Amino acid sequence: MEQEKITTAKTAETEKTAKISKKRILSGIQPSGDLTLGSYLGAIRNWAALADEYDCYYMLADLHTLTVRQVPAELRRHTLTQVAAYIACGLDPEKNVLFVQSHVPAHAQLGWVLDCYTMFGELSRMTQFKDKSAKNADNINAGLFTYPALMAADILLYQADLVPVGGDQKQHVEICRDIASRFNGIYGDVFKIPEPYIPQVGARVMSLTSPESKMSKSDKDPNGCVYMLEKPEDIARKFKKAVTDSDASVRFDPAGKPGVSNLMQIYAAATGRTFEAIEAEFAGRGYGDFKKTVGDAVVELLRPIREETEHLLADKAYLEGVYRAGAERAAYTANRTLSKVFKKVGLLAR
Ligand code: TYM
Repeated sequence: MEQEKITTAKTAETEKTAKISKKRILSGIQPSGDLTLGSYLGAIRNWAALADEYDCYYMLADLHTLTVRQVPAELRRHTLTQVAAYIACGLDPEKNVLFVQSHVPAHAQLGWVLDCYTMFGELSRMTQFKDKSAKNADNINAGLFTYPALMAADILLYQADLVPVGGDQKQHVEICRDIASRFNGIYGDVFKIPEPYIPQVGARVMSLTSPESKMSKSDKDPNGCVYMLEKPEDIARKFKKAVTDSDASVRFDPAGKPGVSNLMQIYAAATGRTFEAIEAEFAGRGYGDFKKTVGDAVVELLRPIREETEHLLADKAYLEGVYRAGAERAAYTANRTLSKVFKKVGLLAR
């Protein structure tokens, strides 16, 4: 009996030490629409593999979505679906902290503090701000402009070592590092300086119909973007319609052959094949055959995720349990950083 107690205590101690020494990860996706193949290949797919090695926090960045007008009921539906999709993509809620950003008030609180340590000039240089303000010319709001400071708060609250994102978010992780270094320069080592973690293949999935721009849920052409939970026949149809070129050879050349190279990237990410192997596989075969094979590979990649997401969505109580528990665990970590920051900047403790 006594021996058993000692062993249990030892295990708890070992787990605690392991947790302390594990590096930490934070990332998130905006639930502003259905998840895309781009966000899957660029981000989520790489998250599940990290759970054993890292202490992982994955959020649903719902506060960020408010920078563009949302339909309230749709936002709620997308948020719940995204919780289910995270789990269906292999994120075990016991091993990963899955939470909704707005459920942890520390994000908005630290976001405000960091607004005051972020410069107008550096925010003006953000590519996403320029793109989104061009797309939403009638709603260039302050939130759209200060978005990177809130994203910095998301990351810094958890003292994250790594931020796994697609290539388009690299600039935001860089400004987060600048803000953290500036703050640390004034107040000492308050924040861990995070590193971006960008996949080798799939970091930039392009639109199927205009391969010079990123695949995105805000794409005006519905055929350009593939959604993770889309019906197989729709996915297959979009790939059949994908833009290629008049050269009829499957060769990786992003500048000269952006459409074909994008399809090769997607196929490589979906199957683990190298570009050389793909070129050899389709040598002498037409584009029709190539596009069909890529479409089929994506359908098979996404099929189990769609089925599992639908299955999980039937159990709302379970999903609520997941995000409630996630918010509690996230808030515990986030509030420790927030208290430290409040103290450092001179806010009176309650
Ligand atoms: P969001 O919601 O636009 O995209 C979510 C993730 O998916 C990646 N991604 C892509 N990767 C490759 N090809 C594509 N076509 C593609 N489209 C999207 C993005 O790089 C991202 O990793 N600001 C973030 C959300 C966020 C966040 C954070 C991320 C808020 N706070 C803290 C990391 C840490 C965004 O808008 O991602």
